[in-house]
Amino acid sequence: MNSFGRLFRFTTWGESHGPAIGAVVDGCPPGLAIDEGVIQPFLDARRPGQSKFTTQRQEPDQVRILSGVFEGRTTGTPISLMIENVDQRSKDYSEVAVAYRPGHADYAYDAKYGFRDYRGGGRSSARETASRVAAGAVARLVIPEVKILAYVSEIGGDMIDPGKFDEAEIANNPFFCPDAAAAARWEKIVDDARKSGSSVGAVVECYASGVPAGWGAPLYAKLDADLAAAMMGINAVKGVEIGDGFAAARLSGEQNADPMRPNAEGPDGAPEFLANHAGGIAGGISTGQPVTCRVAFKPTSSILTPQATINRSGEATEMFTKGRHDPCVGIRGVPVVEAMMALVLADHKLLHRGQCG
Ligand SMILES: Cc1cc2nc3c(=O)[nH]c(=O)nc-3n(C[C@H](O)[C@H](O)[C@H](O)COP(=O)(O)O)c2cc1C
Repeated sequence: MNSFGRLFRFTTWGESHGPAIGAVVDGCPPGLAIDEGVIQPFLDARRPGQSKFTTQRQEPDQVRILSGVFEGRTTGTPISLMIENVDQRSKDYSEVAVAYRPGHADYAYDAKYGFRDYRGGGRSSARETASRVAAGAVARLVIPEVKILAYVSEIGGDMIDPGKFDEAEIANNPFFCPDAAAAARWEKIVDDARKSGSSVGAVVECYASGVPAGWGAPLYAKLDADLAAAMMGINAVKGVEIGDGFAAARLSGEQNADPMRPNAEGPDGAPEFLANHAGGIAGGISTGQPVTCRVAFKPTSSILTPQATINRSGEATEMFTKGRHDPCVGIRGVPVVEAMMALVLADHKLLHRGQCG
């Protein structure tokens, strides 16, 4: 239950306050040029402690490749990636050991296993997502024809203005926000939430362009189903939409259609599409249009405001969470969403090649 993918398959391991975390990537084609420098920029984008709008835990997140690479190229054998944990403060979690944070995984883990590593949330900590980001960097090597772009489109209910979308702006602010005016507003929204001991949710949107028609499969390996599972598997994600998603349920058939016309310049006779309500996927298979999804992150559950809960003996108590937490987890979710998109697409590219050549 810690592995994902069929042909391009990865397994993550490790806990928030253990000595290290990591991933084992299996099924990666041989001969791809790789070293730590190829993976590190993606980890740097997810790294905590880079602004006052994320957790202040300081983790350098330096990745080491332990196997599967020889003379700078993948060998086709399992690629083991390791990231050391260096900034653990387990004493911050003494309350979490005896009582359950409402909204977090503490109660559910105890109910299932009867025992849990409570330090920093153990395996349920989003520290694990660093491993996915590292694996996702390897996946990107398998799909060089694809460009993946994710950004935050909404924080605390405040949305970007799509008319002010500027891709260059995404790297210019601490929110991965493509609208400079929205980013300025979000400073106050996130700061106010943090100062008042609360938290806010966010929506992350992701586009993958350059995906050719034909990736994906009916019916139990639909590209959209695998994407939804991948995104829903990210910590704190409570909703995933492909293309227009829930809005499609409010459209008529003609409004929701993606009309086509012949395109003399299209590769291999590919048509020109006049809309993309479907998010680039029909019948579980890519159409050649950009693959798009929208991911809803809930507000951080570890907050300083006291809330009703129970302790491990089932007695009523109140709890507020000390320690260092993200006031809006969706912000650092952006590189994780991109990584999951890359991992799903790499798997489906190999599956398509396996079946159709
Ligand atoms: C990048 C990222 C950072 C997160 N940081 C925190 C955090 O600082 N504090 C917290 O309580 N939850 C944080 N979370 C969310 C928890 O890991 C998550 O809510 C918890 O594992 C319970 O799982 P669920 O929300 O998916 O049900 C973070 C999630 C992500 C994606």
